[in-house]
Amino acid sequence: MSPRADREVSISQTDPIYRQIYGCEIEIPNPCCLIIFGASGDLTKRKLIPSLYQLHKNSLLPDNFFILGTGRMEMSAEKFREDMLLAVREVFTKDFDSSSWKALAEKMYYSPLDYSSSESYVKSLVNQLPLLEEKHQTGKNRIFYLAIPPSVFEDVVVNLGNTGLSGEDMGFTHIVVEKPFGQDLDSAKRLNRILEKSFQEHQIYRIDHYLAKETVQNIMMFRFANSIFEPLWNNRYIDHIQITVAETIGIELRAGYYEQTGVIRDMFPNHIFQLLTLTAMEPPVKFEANPVKDERVKVFRSMRPFPLDRLDEYVVTGQYGPGQIHGKAVAGYREEHGVAKQSTTSTFAAMKVFVDNWRWKGVPFYLRSGKRLSTRKTEISIQFKPVPHMMFSNLLNEPIEPNTLVLRVQPDEGINIVFQAKEPGSKVCLRPVLMDFSYEGEIFLDAYEWVLLDCMHGDSLLSVREDAVEETWAFLTPAIQQLESTAQREKFPNYAAGSSGPDEAALLMERDGRRWRPL
Ligand code: BG6
Repeated sequence: MSPRADREVSISQTDPIYRQIYGCEIEIPNPCCLIIFGASGDLTKRKLIPSLYQLHKNSLLPDNFFILGTGRMEMSAEKFREDMLLAVREVFTKDFDSSSWKALAEKMYYSPLDYSSSESYVKSLVNQLPLLEEKHQTGKNRIFYLAIPPSVFEDVVVNLGNTGLSGEDMGFTHIVVEKPFGQDLDSAKRLNRILEKSFQEHQIYRIDHYLAKETVQNIMMFRFANSIFEPLWNNRYIDHIQITVAETIGIELRAGYYEQTGVIRDMFPNHIFQLLTLTAMEPPVKFEANPVKDERVKVFRSMRPFPLDRLDEYVVTGQYGPGQIHGKAVAGYREEHGVAKQSTTSTFAAMKVFVDNWRWKGVPFYLRSGKRLSTRKTEISIQFKPVPHMMFSNLLNEPIEPNTLVLRVQPDEGINIVFQAKEPGSKVCLRPVLMDFSYEGEIFLDAYEWVLLDCMHGDSLLSVREDAVEETWAFLTPAIQQLESTAQREKFPNYAAGSSGPDEAALLMERDGRRWRPL
């Protein structure tokens, strides 16, 4: 059975039904429906519908289930199904199963919606939903999934509240909110207040798909289910921690979003900081949503504010120029479709962060993320301190590498430990050796499949609580504002596509006598 937390809000209507899949027991959610806002958008096509198809194919969706797509675009249910079929076929090029698709497509509907008009909500949702619920016998369990741009977020949330759709009279009503959750502290607070007017916190799922990655979920299991690592997991034994999220892809067709966002907002307050909290948090008293979230948020509260007068010693940004990736020439960021020719948006950032608490005092966390780097790799590496006295040092000509423990999030998911061992034959000769655990071939639910299942189950462990969102923005906003007010036009581009980022990023660590792990 995969590790799941106790349910915080679980409205149980029938005895739980489990399904065995690849040796794991997965609970099938209760009957429910999913209403997708932004149903003709990119996220729906690339992630939501392919994940729903995959869940359906593996019989992990309840029998009584339907999807209602909504959006500004006028389109028939038939056209919606056709578009979604194309999208699913693009993702599952090899093993597409047409009979599975057909069965799911029969449960898919579309209803155009004017996001700002409450009459439109009445016509498309208030009047429609009971009919579909009756037809599919889903009861009143509803999930509203907002796959929409931030500009229409307020209209949707307010109208759901005003038309009575946010209530939980006879079942559950959950609302799923995708990132970006705000642009800074003020906008995040504003979004939270808007949500709070119509929904209660237990109904809100601010999702971060990184938290739902199998290997990210494993960080807590690894730390708190093994007794041999936890005693070492502190500033007595750990020298520093590196967290890397490197991508080879550029911005694809998302210039409109990315130009407004940049790498810091896109990756740090969410994905990278979640990796950081799971690595740094204290053991929660229970494996339940709120105790776990309490510990995660304490890490955010302990993060030392950046010294703004010396920000360049703590934060480095970059933007890619043209280059080569896997032997193929790729354009620079400013040449990407939809990007301003003088754009100052950063596509790379590296940071040094301290968590000022008993456990981590003095241990730097070096974080980096960038687009168009040489390799796709997400990993957390724990770099241990050298042994207190190296008795072999006068016999060896080179320094001995301290131990490293690497949690590989993707690709090649797994964990490895590097330690020193004697080289056979010679009297004193050490070499680093690797102990490796790999998840190869074992991961069968992707992050969005977990997200969808959890929202159906009412398990909010993997969603982000209001206070955590505000703490992360409180930490980052002053730095972002300072960076944005400093002219970077001349500085960018400062790394070639296909490289490991700007030279200043290497300097960030070299100044501390440390090096990034190679990508
Ligand atoms: C998204 C970002 O949240 O995460 C993208 O908006 C990024 O810019 C993506 O590419 C990375 O996710 P994954 O799962 O591919 O590592």
